[in-house]
Amino acid sequence: MLGFTRGDVPDYQMAAWCMAVYFRGLNSRETHALTDAMIRSGDTIALGAALGRRVVDKHSTGGVGDKTSIAVGPIVAACGVPFGKMSGRGLAHSGGTLDKLESIPGFRVELSIDDFVSQVRDVGLAIVGQTADLVPADKKLYALRDVTATVEINPLIASSIMSKKIATGADAVVLDVKVGDGAHGKRTLDEARVLAEQMIDLGRRAGLEVVCLLTDMDQPLGAAVGNALEIREAVDTIAGDGPPDFTELVLDACARLLALSDLGIDIAEGRTRAEAAVADGSATAAYERWIAAQGGDPDVSVLPDAPIVREVVAPRDGVVVRLQALAIGIAALELGAGRRTKEDDIDHAVGVVCRMKQGDAVRSGVVLAEVHARDDASASAGADAVLAAYEIGDEAPQMRGILLDVVE
Ligand code: URA
Repeated sequence: MLGFTRGDVPDYQMAAWCMAVYFRGLNSRETHALTDAMIRSGDTIALGAALGRRVVDKHSTGGVGDKTSIAVGPIVAACGVPFGKMSGRGLAHSGGTLDKLESIPGFRVELSIDDFVSQVRDVGLAIVGQTADLVPADKKLYALRDVTATVEINPLIASSIMSKKIATGADAVVLDVKVGDGAHGKRTLDEARVLAEQMIDLGRRAGLEVVCLLTDMDQPLGAAVGNALEIREAVDTIAGDGPPDFTELVLDACARLLALSDLGIDIAEGRTRAEAAVADGSATAAYERWIAAQGGDPDVSVLPDAPIVREVVAPRDGVVVRLQALAIGIAALELGAGRRTKEDDIDHAVGVVCRMKQGDAVRSGVVLAEVHARDDASASAGADAVLAAYEIGDEAPQMRGILLDVVE
Protein backbone atom coordinates (compact mmCIF):
# COMPACT_ATOMS: atom_id res chain seq x y z
CA MET A 1 0.00 0.00 0.00
CA LEU A 2 2.85 2.38 0.82
CA GLY A 3 4.58 1.42 -2.47
CA PHE A 4 1.38 2.20 -4.36
CA THR A 5 1.07 5.56 -2.61
CA ARG A 6 4.70 6.43 -3.48
CA GLY A 7 4.10 5.43 -7.12
CA ASP A 8 6.39 2.34 -6.99
CA VAL A 9 3.44 0.00 -7.57
CA PRO A 10 1.75 0.97 -10.85
CA ASP A 11 -2.03 1.33 -11.26
CA TYR A 12 -2.34 -1.83 -13.39
CA GLN A 13 -0.84 -4.02 -10.65
CA MET A 14 -3.03 -2.43 -8.01
CA ALA A 15 -6.10 -2.87 -10.22
CA ALA A 16 -5.22 -6.58 -10.55
CA TRP A 17 -4.89 -6.81 -6.74
CA CYS A 18 -8.32 -5.18 -6.30
CA MET A 19 -9.83 -7.69 -8.71
CA ALA A 20 -8.16 -10.54 -6.77
CA VAL A 21 -9.79 -9.18 -3.59
CA TYR A 22 -13.10 -9.00 -5.46
CA PHE A 23 -12.97 -12.76 -6.04
CA ARG A 24 -11.11 -13.99 -2.93
CA GLY A 25 -12.08 -11.41 -0.26
CA LEU A 26 -9.96 -10.47 2.75
CA ASN A 27 -10.30 -11.96 6.23
CA SER A 28 -10.65 -9.70 9.25
CA ARG A 29 -6.90 -9.72 10.06
CA GLU A 30 -6.10 -8.72 6.46
CA THR A 31 -8.81 -6.02 6.45
CA HIS A 32 -7.40 -4.64 9.67
CA ALA A 33 -3.84 -4.64 8.25
CA LEU A 34 -5.04 -2.89 5.08
CA THR A 35 -6.87 -0.21 7.10
CA ASP A 36 -3.79 0.31 9.22
CA ALA A 37 -1.54 0.65 6.15
CA MET A 38 -3.94 3.18 4.63
CA ILE A 39 -3.89 5.27 7.81
CA ARG A 40 -0.07 5.07 7.97
CA SER A 41 0.24 6.23 4.33
CA GLY A 42 -0.08 9.80 5.69
CA ASP A 43 -0.34 11.86 8.85
CA THR A 44 -3.07 11.52 11.43
CA ILE A 45 -4.91 14.16 13.44
CA ALA A 46 -5.88 13.97 17.09
CA LEU A 47 -8.83 16.25 16.44
CA GLY A 48 -10.66 15.59 19.71
CA ALA A 49 -7.50 16.21 21.75
CA ALA A 50 -6.67 19.38 19.77
CA LEU A 51 -10.12 20.81 20.49
CA GLY A 52 -10.52 19.41 23.99
CA ARG A 53 -13.94 18.16 22.84
CA ARG A 54 -15.49 14.90 21.76
CA VAL A 55 -15.68 15.09 17.97
CA VAL A 56 -18.35 13.27 15.94
CA ASP A 57 -18.35 12.27 12.30
CA LYS A 58 -20.61 10.56 9.77
CA HIS A 59 -20.05 8.64 6.54
CA SER A 60 -22.09 6.75 3.99
CA THR A 61 -21.24 3.62 2.00
CA GLY A 62 -22.47 5.47 -1.09
CA GLY A 63 -25.85 5.90 -2.70
CA VAL A 64 -27.80 7.82 -5.33
CA GLY A 65 -28.80 11.36 -4.33
CA ASP A 66 -26.98 10.99 -1.02
CA LYS A 67 -26.18 14.54 0.10
CA THR A 68 -26.73 13.71 3.78
CA SER A 69 -23.39 14.93 5.17
CA ILE A 70 -23.86 18.36 3.58
CA ALA A 71 -27.08 18.84 5.58
CA VAL A 72 -26.04 16.97 8.74
CA GLY A 73 -22.78 18.90 9.29
CA PRO A 74 -24.34 22.38 9.68
CA ILE A 75 -27.19 21.12 11.88
CA VAL A 76 -24.82 19.33 14.25
CA ALA A 77 -22.47 22.34 14.31
CA ALA A 78 -25.43 24.66 15.03
CA CYS A 79 -26.18 22.48 18.06
CA GLY A 80 -22.69 23.23 19.40
CA VAL A 81 -20.96 19.94 18.52
CA PRO A 82 -17.74 20.06 16.45
CA PHE A 83 -18.00 18.17 13.16
CA GLY A 84 -14.80 17.44 11.21
CA LYS A 85 -15.10 15.10 8.29
CA MET A 86 -13.07 13.64 5.45
CA SER A 87 -15.24 12.76 2.46
CA GLY A 88 -14.72 11.11 -0.91
CA ARG A 89 -15.49 11.72 -4.56
CA GLY A 90 -18.09 9.97 -6.71
CA LEU A 91 -17.75 6.20 -6.92
CA ALA A 92 -19.25 4.39 -9.91
CA HIS A 93 -22.98 5.36 -10.08
CA SER A 94 -22.98 7.04 -6.64
CA GLY A 95 -22.05 10.69 -6.25
CA GLY A 96 -19.37 11.97 -3.87
CA THR A 97 -19.64 14.73 -1.27
CA LEU A 98 -16.42 16.39 -2.50
CA ASP A 99 -17.69 16.60 -6.08
CA LYS A 100 -20.97 18.05 -4.83
CA LEU A 101 -19.20 20.67 -2.72
CA GLU A 102 -16.97 21.63 -5.66
CA SER A 103 -20.05 22.75 -7.57
CA ILE A 104 -20.02 25.75 -5.20
CA PRO A 105 -17.82 28.41 -6.86
CA GLY A 106 -14.60 28.91 -4.90
CA PHE A 107 -15.07 26.02 -2.44
CA ARG A 108 -11.75 24.34 -1.51
CA VAL A 109 -11.80 20.67 -0.44
CA GLU A 110 -8.05 20.51 0.25
CA LEU A 111 -7.12 22.11 3.56
CA SER A 112 -3.82 21.70 5.40
CA ILE A 113 -4.07 19.76 8.64
CA ASP A 114 -3.60 22.98 10.64
CA ASP A 115 -6.34 24.76 8.69
CA PHE A 116 -8.68 21.78 9.10
CA VAL A 117 -8.20 21.77 12.88
CA SER A 118 -8.56 25.54 13.25
CA GLN A 119 -11.67 25.61 11.07
CA VAL A 120 -13.38 22.92 13.15
CA ARG A 121 -12.38 24.89 16.27
CA ASP A 122 -13.44 28.34 15.01
CA VAL A 123 -16.35 27.56 12.67
CA GLY A 124 -17.46 24.25 14.22
CA LEU A 125 -17.40 22.41 10.90
CA ALA A 126 -15.06 21.37 8.09
CA ILE A 127 -15.39 18.79 5.32
CA VAL A 128 -12.21 17.99 3.40
CA GLY A 129 -10.80 15.45 0.97
CA GLN A 130 -7.93 13.01 1.28
CA THR A 131 -4.67 14.85 0.54
CA ALA A 132 -0.98 14.06 0.06
CA ASP A 133 -0.80 14.27 3.88
CA LEU A 134 -4.05 12.65 4.97
CA VAL A 135 -4.80 9.06 3.89
CA PRO A 136 -3.18 9.51 0.45
CA ALA A 137 -3.48 5.74 -0.14
CA ASP A 138 -7.29 6.02 -0.05
CA LYS A 139 -7.22 8.98 -2.42
CA LYS A 140 -5.33 6.91 -5.03
CA LEU A 141 -7.07 3.59 -4.44
CA TYR A 142 -10.53 5.18 -4.40
CA ALA A 143 -9.95 6.80 -7.81
CA LEU A 144 -8.65 3.50 -9.21
CA ARG A 145 -11.56 1.44 -7.83
CA ASP A 146 -14.03 3.93 -9.31
CA VAL A 147 -12.99 3.08 -12.86
CA THR A 148 -12.06 -0.60 -12.55
CA ALA A 149 -15.39 -2.08 -11.35
CA THR A 150 -13.88 -2.80 -7.92
CA VAL A 151 -16.01 -0.51 -5.78
CA GLU A 152 -18.44 -3.05 -4.37
CA ILE A 153 -16.04 -5.09 -2.22
CA ASN A 154 -16.80 -5.06 1.51
CA PRO A 155 -13.23 -5.09 2.88
CA LEU A 156 -12.23 -2.31 0.47
CA ILE A 157 -15.30 -0.23 1.40
CA ALA A 158 -14.76 -0.85 5.13
CA SER A 159 -11.03 0.01 5.05
CA SER A 160 -11.61 3.05 2.82
CA ILE A 161 -14.25 4.50 5.14
CA MET A 162 -12.68 3.57 8.46
CA SER A 163 -9.15 4.71 7.50
CA LYS A 164 -10.55 8.20 6.87
CA LYS A 165 -12.55 8.21 10.11
CA ILE A 166 -9.64 6.98 12.24
CA ALA A 167 -7.03 9.25 10.60
CA THR A 168 -9.05 12.40 11.28
CA GLY A 169 -9.39 11.53 14.96
CA ALA A 170 -13.16 11.47 15.53
CA ASP A 171 -14.36 9.90 18.79
CA ALA A 172 -17.71 8.62 17.50
CA VAL A 173 -19.11 7.96 14.04
CA VAL A 174 -22.55 7.35 12.56
CA LEU A 175 -22.24 5.21 9.43
CA ASP A 176 -25.04 5.08 6.87
CA VAL A 177 -24.94 1.63 5.26
CA LYS A 178 -27.07 1.64 2.14
CA VAL A 179 -29.36 -1.29 1.32
CA GLY A 180 -31.01 -2.08 -2.00
CA ASP A 181 -30.88 -1.43 -5.73
CA GLY A 182 -28.62 1.65 -5.66
CA ALA A 183 -26.25 0.40 -2.93
CA HIS A 184 -22.90 -0.81 -4.26
CA GLY A 185 -23.44 -4.47 -5.17
CA LYS A 186 -27.23 -4.05 -4.62
CA ARG A 187 -26.58 -4.98 -0.99
CA THR A 188 -29.38 -6.81 0.90
CA LEU A 189 -30.25 -6.11 4.55
CA ASP A 190 -28.26 -9.18 5.70
CA GLU A 191 -25.27 -8.17 3.57
CA ALA A 192 -25.49 -4.66 5.03
CA ARG A 193 -25.32 -6.14 8.55
CA VAL A 194 -22.09 -7.96 7.60
CA LEU A 195 -20.50 -4.73 6.30
CA ALA A 196 -21.71 -2.86 9.39
CA GLU A 197 -20.08 -5.46 11.69
CA GLN A 198 -16.80 -5.19 9.75
CA MET A 199 -16.72 -1.41 10.21
CA ILE A 200 -17.74 -1.62 13.86
CA ASP A 201 -14.89 -4.09 14.41
CA LEU A 202 -12.35 -1.76 12.74
CA GLY A 203 -13.66 1.14 14.85
CA ARG A 204 -13.50 -0.87 18.07
CA ARG A 205 -9.84 -1.77 17.47
CA ALA A 206 -9.09 1.97 17.14
CA GLY A 207 -11.18 3.03 20.17
CA LEU A 208 -13.80 4.66 17.97
CA GLU A 209 -17.50 4.34 18.83
CA VAL A 210 -19.49 3.35 15.73
CA VAL A 211 -23.27 3.27 15.14
CA CYS A 212 -24.48 1.94 11.77
CA LEU A 213 -27.82 3.00 10.30
CA LEU A 214 -29.03 0.57 7.64
CA THR A 215 -31.04 2.71 5.22
CA ASP A 216 -33.11 2.23 2.10
CA MET A 217 -31.42 2.79 -1.26
CA ASP A 218 -33.97 1.05 -3.49
CA GLN A 219 -34.90 4.49 -4.82
CA PRO A 220 -32.80 7.70 -4.88
CA LEU A 221 -32.60 9.62 -1.61
CA GLY A 222 -34.67 12.81 -1.83
CA ALA A 223 -35.40 14.19 -5.29
CA ALA A 224 -32.11 15.60 -6.63
CA VAL A 225 -29.34 13.49 -8.18
CA GLY A 226 -26.39 15.49 -9.53
CA ASN A 227 -23.89 17.79 -7.89
CA ALA A 228 -25.25 21.38 -7.88
CA LEU A 229 -28.84 20.07 -7.81
CA GLU A 230 -28.02 18.18 -4.61
CA ILE A 231 -26.41 21.23 -2.98
CA ARG A 232 -29.66 23.14 -3.56
CA GLU A 233 -31.68 20.31 -2.01
CA ALA A 234 -29.34 20.11 1.00
CA VAL A 235 -29.67 23.88 1.54
CA ASP A 236 -33.48 23.63 1.34
CA THR A 237 -33.45 20.77 3.83
CA ILE A 238 -31.28 22.67 6.31
CA ALA A 239 -33.90 25.43 6.09
CA GLY A 240 -36.74 22.95 6.78
CA ASP A 241 -37.95 22.63 3.21
CA GLY A 242 -36.51 19.28 2.11
CA PRO A 243 -38.10 16.08 0.75
CA PRO A 244 -39.61 13.88 3.52
CA ASP A 245 -37.32 10.81 3.19
CA PHE A 246 -34.15 12.90 3.08
CA THR A 247 -35.29 15.13 5.95
CA GLU A 248 -36.05 12.07 8.09
CA LEU A 249 -32.61 10.53 7.47
CA VAL A 250 -30.83 13.83 8.15
CA LEU A 251 -32.68 14.47 11.43
CA ASP A 252 -32.22 10.88 12.59
CA ALA A 253 -28.47 10.96 11.88
CA CYS A 254 -28.19 14.34 13.67
CA ALA A 255 -30.09 13.06 16.71
CA ARG A 256 -27.74 10.08 17.03
CA LEU A 257 -24.61 12.20 16.50
CA LEU A 258 -25.72 14.63 19.21
CA ALA A 259 -26.41 11.70 21.54
CA LEU A 260 -22.86 10.40 20.87
CA SER A 261 -21.34 13.83 21.54
CA ASP A 262 -20.25 15.35 24.86
CA LEU A 263 -23.58 17.21 25.28
CA GLY A 264 -24.79 14.44 27.58
CA ILE A 265 -28.21 14.10 25.93
CA ASP A 266 -30.17 11.14 24.58
CA ILE A 267 -31.42 10.54 21.02
CA ALA A 268 -34.87 12.06 21.69
CA GLU A 269 -33.35 15.29 23.02
CA GLY A 270 -30.87 15.24 20.10
CA ARG A 271 -33.81 15.10 17.69
CA THR A 272 -35.52 18.03 19.45
CA ARG A 273 -32.35 20.15 19.24
CA ALA A 274 -31.71 19.23 15.59
CA GLU A 275 -35.28 20.20 14.66
CA ALA A 276 -34.92 23.47 16.59
CA ALA A 277 -31.68 24.35 14.75
CA VAL A 278 -33.51 23.88 11.44
CA ALA A 279 -36.57 25.85 12.56
CA ASP A 280 -34.73 28.85 14.05
CA GLY A 281 -32.33 29.32 11.11
CA SER A 282 -29.16 28.56 13.09
CA ALA A 283 -28.42 25.54 10.86
CA THR A 284 -28.58 27.76 7.75
CA ALA A 285 -26.30 30.29 9.44
CA ALA A 286 -23.83 27.45 10.25
CA TYR A 287 -23.96 26.32 6.59
CA GLU A 288 -23.16 29.84 5.37
CA ARG A 289 -20.24 30.24 7.82
CA TRP A 290 -18.84 26.86 6.81
CA ILE A 291 -19.02 27.39 3.04
CA ALA A 292 -17.49 30.87 3.32
CA ALA A 293 -14.68 29.54 5.58
CA GLN A 294 -13.68 27.10 2.80
CA GLY A 295 -13.66 29.87 0.18
CA GLY A 296 -17.11 29.21 -1.31
CA ASP A 297 -20.11 31.42 -1.97
CA PRO A 298 -23.09 30.12 0.08
CA ASP A 299 -25.65 31.90 -2.12
CA VAL A 300 -27.39 29.14 -4.14
CA SER A 301 -28.02 31.53 -7.03
CA VAL A 302 -24.32 31.23 -7.99
CA LEU A 303 -24.55 27.44 -8.47
CA PRO A 304 -24.25 26.33 -12.11
CA ASP A 305 -27.48 25.63 -14.04
CA ALA A 306 -27.77 23.18 -16.94
CA PRO A 307 -28.82 24.86 -20.22
CA ILE A 308 -31.50 22.24 -20.96
CA VAL A 309 -34.20 20.95 -18.61
CA ARG A 310 -36.25 18.14 -20.17
CA GLU A 311 -39.42 16.93 -18.44
CA VAL A 312 -40.18 13.22 -18.28
CA VAL A 313 -43.94 12.59 -18.07
CA ALA A 314 -46.05 9.67 -16.90
CA PRO A 315 -47.26 7.52 -19.82
CA ARG A 316 -50.44 6.47 -17.95
CA ASP A 317 -52.49 6.93 -14.77
CA GLY A 318 -51.39 4.81 -11.82
CA VAL A 319 -48.98 4.72 -8.91
CA VAL A 320 -45.17 4.67 -8.89
CA VAL A 321 -44.44 1.07 -7.95
CA ARG A 322 -40.66 1.28 -8.41
CA LEU A 323 -38.09 3.97 -9.06
CA GLN A 324 -34.79 2.20 -9.63
CA ALA A 325 -31.96 3.98 -7.86
CA LEU A 326 -29.18 2.35 -9.87
CA ALA A 327 -30.72 3.32 -13.22
CA ILE A 328 -31.16 6.93 -12.07
CA GLY A 329 -27.56 6.99 -10.80
CA ILE A 330 -26.29 5.69 -14.16
CA ALA A 331 -28.48 8.19 -16.04
CA ALA A 332 -26.93 11.05 -14.01
CA LEU A 333 -23.43 9.66 -14.63
CA GLU A 334 -24.09 9.43 -18.38
CA LEU A 335 -25.30 13.05 -18.35
CA GLY A 336 -21.84 13.96 -17.01
CA ALA A 337 -22.43 14.12 -13.24
CA GLY A 338 -19.89 11.32 -12.61
CA ARG A 339 -16.68 9.94 -14.10
CA ARG A 340 -16.15 7.10 -16.56
CA THR A 341 -12.34 7.41 -16.48
CA LYS A 342 -10.06 8.84 -13.78
CA GLU A 343 -9.32 11.85 -15.99
CA ASP A 344 -12.98 12.75 -16.71
CA ASP A 345 -14.14 16.19 -15.61
CA ILE A 346 -17.46 16.38 -13.78
CA ASP A 347 -20.25 18.55 -15.14
CA HIS A 348 -21.57 20.03 -11.90
CA ALA A 349 -24.78 21.42 -13.43
CA VAL A 350 -26.34 18.26 -14.86
CA GLY A 351 -28.44 15.54 -13.24
CA VAL A 352 -31.95 14.32 -12.56
CA VAL A 353 -34.68 15.61 -10.25
CA CYS A 354 -37.20 12.90 -9.36
CA ARG A 355 -40.45 14.80 -8.77
CA MET A 356 -42.40 11.57 -8.17
CA LYS A 357 -41.22 8.85 -5.85
CA GLN A 358 -42.32 5.35 -4.94
CA GLY A 359 -45.94 5.29 -3.73
CA ASP A 360 -46.93 8.57 -5.43
CA ALA A 361 -50.18 8.45 -7.44
CA VAL A 362 -49.75 9.91 -10.94
CA ARG A 363 -52.00 10.97 -13.81
CA SER A 364 -51.00 10.47 -17.43
CA GLY A 365 -48.86 13.44 -18.56
CA VAL A 366 -47.82 14.55 -15.08
CA VAL A 367 -44.09 15.32 -14.66
CA LEU A 368 -42.29 12.34 -13.15
CA ALA A 369 -38.80 13.81 -13.30
CA GLU A 370 -36.64 16.52 -14.85
CA VAL A 371 -33.45 15.80 -16.76
CA HIS A 372 -30.90 18.64 -16.49
CA ALA A 373 -28.57 18.28 -19.46
CA ARG A 374 -25.73 20.00 -21.32
CA ASP A 375 -27.14 19.38 -24.83
CA ASP A 376 -30.16 18.02 -26.70
CA ALA A 377 -28.70 14.60 -27.44
CA SER A 378 -27.81 13.87 -23.81
CA ALA A 379 -31.18 15.26 -22.66
CA SER A 380 -33.03 12.81 -24.95
CA ALA A 381 -30.89 9.83 -23.92
CA GLY A 382 -31.25 10.84 -20.26
CA ALA A 383 -35.04 11.22 -20.54
CA ASP A 384 -35.35 7.71 -22.05
CA ALA A 385 -33.19 6.24 -19.28
CA VAL A 386 -35.13 8.02 -16.53
CA LEU A 387 -38.51 6.95 -17.93
CA ALA A 388 -37.28 3.34 -18.00
CA ALA A 389 -36.34 3.64 -14.30
CA TYR A 390 -39.98 4.32 -13.35
CA GLU A 391 -42.46 1.47 -13.07
CA ILE A 392 -46.07 2.69 -13.01
CA GLY A 393 -48.60 0.12 -11.81
CA ASP A 394 -52.10 -0.09 -10.41
CA GLU A 395 -51.46 -1.16 -6.83
CA ALA A 396 -49.64 0.91 -4.22
CA PRO A 397 -46.34 -0.80 -3.28
CA GLN A 398 -45.38 -1.83 0.25
CA MET A 399 -43.36 1.11 1.61
CA ARG A 400 -40.48 0.24 3.94
CA GLY A 401 -39.43 3.70 5.21
CA ILE A 402 -35.92 5.11 5.12
CA LEU A 403 -34.43 3.62 8.33
CA LEU A 404 -34.39 -0.19 8.13
CA ASP A 405 -32.25 -1.15 11.13
CA VAL A 406 -29.55 0.05 13.49
CA VAL A 407 -26.42 -1.99 14.32
CA GLU A 408 -24.11 -0.89 17.14
N1 URA B 1 -17.21 5.74 0.80
C1 URA B 1 -15.87 5.65 0.94
O1 URA B 1 -15.24 6.54 1.49
N2 URA B 1 -15.26 4.57 0.44
C2 URA B 1 -15.90 3.58 -0.18
O2 URA B 1 -15.27 2.63 -0.60
C3 URA B 1 -17.31 3.68 -0.34
C4 URA B 1 -17.94 4.78 0.17
